[in-house]
Amino acid sequence: MPVSLADFPRFPLAHLPTPLAEMRRLRDALAGEMKTTPPRLFIKRDDCTGLAGGGNKTRKLEYLLGEALASGCDTVVTTGAVQSNHARQTAAAAAAAGLRCILVLFDTVPYRGGNYRSSGNLLLDRVLGAEVRIEPADADAAGVFGKLMGEIEAGGGKPYFVPVGGSSATGSLGYAHAYLELADQLEDAGLSNAVLVHASSSGGTQAGLVAGAQLRGSGPDVAGINVYRSDNDEMAKSIHALACKTAAVLDAPAPAPDAVVLDGGYLGERYGMPTEPMRKAVGLVARTEGVLLDPVYTGKGMAGFIAQVIAGLHADRQAAVFLHTGGMPGLFAYEEEFTARKESQSRTAT
Ligand SMILES: Cc1ncc(COP(=O)(O)O)c(C=O)c1O
Repeated sequence: MPVSLADFPRFPLAHLPTPLAEMRRLRDALAGEMKTTPPRLFIKRDDCTGLAGGGNKTRKLEYLLGEALASGCDTVVTTGAVQSNHARQTAAAAAAAGLRCILVLFDTVPYRGGNYRSSGNLLLDRVLGAEVRIEPADADAAGVFGKLMGEIEAGGGKPYFVPVGGSSATGSLGYAHAYLELADQLEDAGLSNAVLVHASSSGGTQAGLVAGAQLRGSGPDVAGINVYRSDNDEMAKSIHALACKTAAVLDAPAPAPDAVVLDGGYLGERYGMPTEPMRKAVGLVARTEGVLLDPVYTGKGMAGFIAQVIAGLHADRQAAVFLHTGGMPGLFAYEEEFTARKESQSRTAT
């Protein structure tokens, strides 16, 4: 018998279940470009998890903070890029749990927009009371964390380290849970043969979804859009390894390597750098559905989803679902990408 998700310590943070909504106007907008009839399009609103702007990390943090609290830790340390959504949600989760939060943010994205190093998630990290330390891209991460952990312990604190993106087997339990939730929603709506497409980065979301599929034994296929690493095969391998670990924790069968489907065509130049398909997707979904995506993750993820739908990749499905993993505060850090000049280019670009 598989272990139940209810067996793991969990600190409740998220508003669940998140809605599953149909995107009729987006489908109508795409229909003209297509040779085949598009499947019904849906959006799973994990941007509505409710914690300080929402997003996918909230589900992971329920299990991560559950573990931190169960082991008596009083200080949460995590890391990411300067505009990390994960860092912002960790700051909020720590505040809600009454824990100290230290964010070590590495300045790894060479974006030079005016607000990148002051607004968006970084502003919210500070409002949420986190202690923010910004390190240069080439800083020695092991040295930085070794020193920081030593400082916390010397001050009488007990740190809990959350890996980048919250992507450990414990964090991924949040997405095993999400998979079960979505599979039930699709079943209740009478939709079978569905696919779930989402932006994949540190991999915990996809690993958890794949492990959830192993636990349930039936439900939608999972397809990631790589927004993080230029080596797509290596990234798929590391997601598969994490999916196996998560499945093992749940006592579920190990997934086959081909259970990790990852499309590497939408990353562009590199992580965090804007692309034209991203700008177009953000604008199109905002104007057809009133839904705000983000420039780093869901904008590129949606660009991939739209291209796959137009190419007829999901034509034989009853439903193609996009998982909205949040990130909207990032729009403010990339303001220049959405000014009138760039927008008019995006509307006319093919
Ligand atoms: C908005 C958003 N979407 C998707 C992802 C990707 O999730 P994962 O890191 O679990 O692959 C992230 C990660 O930071 C994110 O912030």
